[in-house]
Amino acid sequence: MISIQNLKICYGPVEVVPDLTLDIERGEFFTLLGPSGCGKTTVLRAIAGFVPATAGNILLDGVDVTRQPAEQRDVGIVFQNYALFPTMSVYDNVAFGLRVAKKKSPEIKASVNRILEATGIEEHSTKKPEALSGGQQQRVAIARSLVMGTQVLLFDEPLSNLDARVRDDMRKEIKRLQRELDFTAVFVTHDQEEALSMSDRLLVFNKGVADQIGTSRNLYSKPATPFVCEFIGASNKLGARTKSALGLDEVELAYIRPEEIKLNPNGAFPATITDIDFLGPMSTVEIRFHDELLNVSLTGTDALKGLEPGLSIKIDINRNKVLCFKDGALIQ
Ligand SMILES: Nc1ncnc2c1ncn2[C@@H]1O[C@H](COP(=O)(O)OP(=O)(O)O)[C@@H](O)[C@H]1O
Ligand SMILES: [Mg+2]
Repeated sequence: MISIQNLKICYGPVEVVPDLTLDIERGEFFTLLGPSGCGKTTVLRAIAGFVPATAGNILLDGVDVTRQPAEQRDVGIVFQNYALFPTMSVYDNVAFGLRVAKKKSPEIKASVNRILEATGIEEHSTKKPEALSGGQQQRVAIARSLVMGTQVLLFDEPLSNLDARVRDDMRKEIKRLQRELDFTAVFVTHDQEEALSMSDRLLVFNKGVADQIGTSRNLYSKPATPFVCEFIGASNKLGARTKSALGLDEVELAYIRPEEIKLNPNGAFPATITDIDFLGPMSTVEIRFHDELLNVSLTGTDALKGLEPGLSIKIDINRNKVLCFKDGALIQ
């Protein structure tokens, strides 16, 4: 549905994206994940046609749109503030694009009603955006793009200003609409949890470079680079003495996920608890192992019974679970 081929983007003399190649399937939920300033918005705006490509090509549904202006590209953008017209009703907001396109009024009415129903906001059609909840406004923003027959929707951090509970609901909401209405979604976020939970596939962006493209599980269990390993999920970077204890002296760079360190009374290595961070369903226990502090995650409250800072314990670390890197690439 979207094919990005050797895309290069510069702002004046500054190269933001050196060379990006990427294919996004029809109906896929694809996420660009990376820290602030890495170029996510730039790529999204390039797909939409608001930022020119310095080199390379962008194809939408097989058509090269690299030189096409934004208004000729069949993509919609859902912004963080939804950018709805505040003085217009929900119905008029959704109908706006069709009216501008000079569609006939029975056609407009049929299309708008169909999409309001599909997105579950028909009962609010006469209300102004300010009378709607954030979730409902988001649906209006999505409906407004979909009513134009748009098959590609671009989302630029639409959930990043919301509090945790609302954000969870909105994630599910966007996913539900995407599945039911079957559009192709390109979603931008700096929030790795959001990216892991929503995406069919995601791309981890590191200073304009795609470090890795894959499914959430794939990226978590087989991070291609140390950057991906540190950015996705939590990890302990192992120092020389821990590596040595595990017989991994030769390994350049090694990480272990907190859930792969096991507390076990009969474990192979002695350690000391230094701190306990109670988080409910999953807590973090900090331990001192040789001269290093490592985080161990424990599931449920029972696992914490009898544990307290200062306590001497035994641990097991399965060396096959250690993520080992050489020259910036995963070797195990
Ligand atoms: N219009 C612009 N002119 C010059 N530099 C820009 C412009 N827009 C973004 N940048 C720079 O390009 C880089 C990537 O920005 P952006 O794509 O917004 O990152 P992200 O969305 O990942 O936070 C940043 O260093 C930013 O300062
Ligand atoms: Mg951005």
